[in-house]
Amino acid sequence: MSSPSQVAPGALPTELSPLPPNRRMRPREVARFLRYLPTKDMLKAFAVLPGDSGLAWIGYGAGPPVAFIRDPEHARQVLVTNQDNYVKGNDYQILAVLLGKGLLTNFDLEHWQRQRKLVQPLFAKRHLAPMATSMIGGADTWLDGIAPDAAAGRTIDVNSAMMALTLDVVCRALFGTRIDGPTTKTVGKSMDTLLRAAQANFKLAGVYDVMEVAPKVTFAGLLRLRRVHWNRAMKAKAEMDRIVYGLIDHRVAHPDADAQDLLSLLLNARDEDDGSEMDREQVRDEVMTFLGAGHETTANALTWLWLALSRNPEARRRMEQEVDEVLGGRMPVYEDAERLPWTNACLHEAMRLFPPVPAFTRVAAGSDDIDGLRIERGADVVIAPYLLHRNPRFWSNPEGFDPERFMPGGEATRPGRPRLAFMPFGGGRRICVGQGFAQLEGVLMAAMIAQRIRFDLVPGTQVRHDVAITLRPRDGMPMTVRRRDDAPPLVR
Ligand code: HEM
Repeated sequence: MSSPSQVAPGALPTELSPLPPNRRMRPREVARFLRYLPTKDMLKAFAVLPGDSGLAWIGYGAGPPVAFIRDPEHARQVLVTNQDNYVKGNDYQILAVLLGKGLLTNFDLEHWQRQRKLVQPLFAKRHLAPMATSMIGGADTWLDGIAPDAAAGRTIDVNSAMMALTLDVVCRALFGTRIDGPTTKTVGKSMDTLLRAAQANFKLAGVYDVMEVAPKVTFAGLLRLRRVHWNRAMKAKAEMDRIVYGLIDHRVAHPDADAQDLLSLLLNARDEDDGSEMDREQVRDEVMTFLGAGHETTANALTWLWLALSRNPEARRRMEQEVDEVLGGRMPVYEDAERLPWTNACLHEAMRLFPPVPAFTRVAAGSDDIDGLRIERGADVVIAPYLLHRNPRFWSNPEGFDPERFMPGGEATRPGRPRLAFMPFGGGRRICVGQGFAQLEGVLMAAMIAQRIRFDLVPGTQVRHDVAITLRPRDGMPMTVRRRDDAPPLVR
């Protein structure tokens, strides 16, 4: 049987190859791997893991091993079938110091369950439809702002441009029209400072983990070690408190029964069993989490999409054609998100190759057995969508950009396929609560941008990756922006 990685591009592997035996990394491999940790170049570290599928694991010193998950069945065991045995990893503790106890960083299972029950319904279809209107408004304003650059064919950093766009969109969805441009900018700067402080300390936490001293330092203590980041982060946190509490208090003083923004929905949410509501601090923590989890991730998904399309002009032409046929020159509406299958497929394929969250961690609360490897209590488990999405057992031509796999009948839609072979939003009970929001935003933003402008990577640009919480280009994404002169005239 030919190996799936040799299957012609676009063809579906008919049979899965047997899972290669998992194995412990040899000392030389561990040394190569560890070399990349202090530089936080996780993708380079991933690249030197032995083999290309199955479980890879490092055992260092006398401590428990670190297991790297790249098979969907192993991911299912950690995230679904034996989820009670796995708690969120150390990196989330650092984030919790900075963001608070929102859903993402909530370690108390009972409290988390109660919060999830309150928050999940806010992302139901009936709430997403009005949020689509604010997303579309945000993109329209952003496109007006970039029009002079597009008319002149200037070079811009598409990553910062997408960050500005998604920040504006998430702020509009959260706070409605209550937030002005300068405040949005302050929010963006403060969140950036907080996430950078967390990222700088992940690196340190990784080294501490490897040295097996992590359990001996508190995470707030770890942050304080990097005093510059700590001081800046505390200032940014105070600034965010001022803004977010200000918006909460204003909303409480001036209730609006018809308001559809997420902040109003959070304030109005009631537990269906006992009618209880969130206190002011919890609302603040959930808002901070939405800002932290819901802005950079989507911006990076869009940035990698524009890179992939610039490198695949045929896929881009097909996307522009679809957008022109479905929208003509009009503004999209909520329902259009489902009428753009190729645009959706391109977005999925970009998130397959460049998952905005390339890896996340769990710690084993008790011992377990994954595919013959004993996972001891306290072992770290790294679930890596980046590796799962490039596993040649599940993807033909795994390194190639081929949106066809997400079209009806494509390999990603094949019945019987393990669901977690594609998991940009995670899996199990802690799956991304904002998935519907992010997908809606992604496809509407992609369609509106493709309707009016086109991005081309500046020739000779070496795109390098930066990985900490999210996967983003290290030195920005310099691209030429041009107005689409072949597009139908815009009708507002
Ligand atoms: C392309 C965009 C996005 C990606 C790739 C993404 C990815 C993820 C992933 C992988 C997780 C699971 C982490 C884990 O299990 O440890 C997660 C959780 C979460 N995400 Fe997203 N996310 C995106 C957008 C958003 C948006 C727009 C929001 C909110 C507006 C959001 C809010 C959250 C929250 C609150 C959690 C924690 C859920 C829980 O534990 O109950 N995310 N996200």
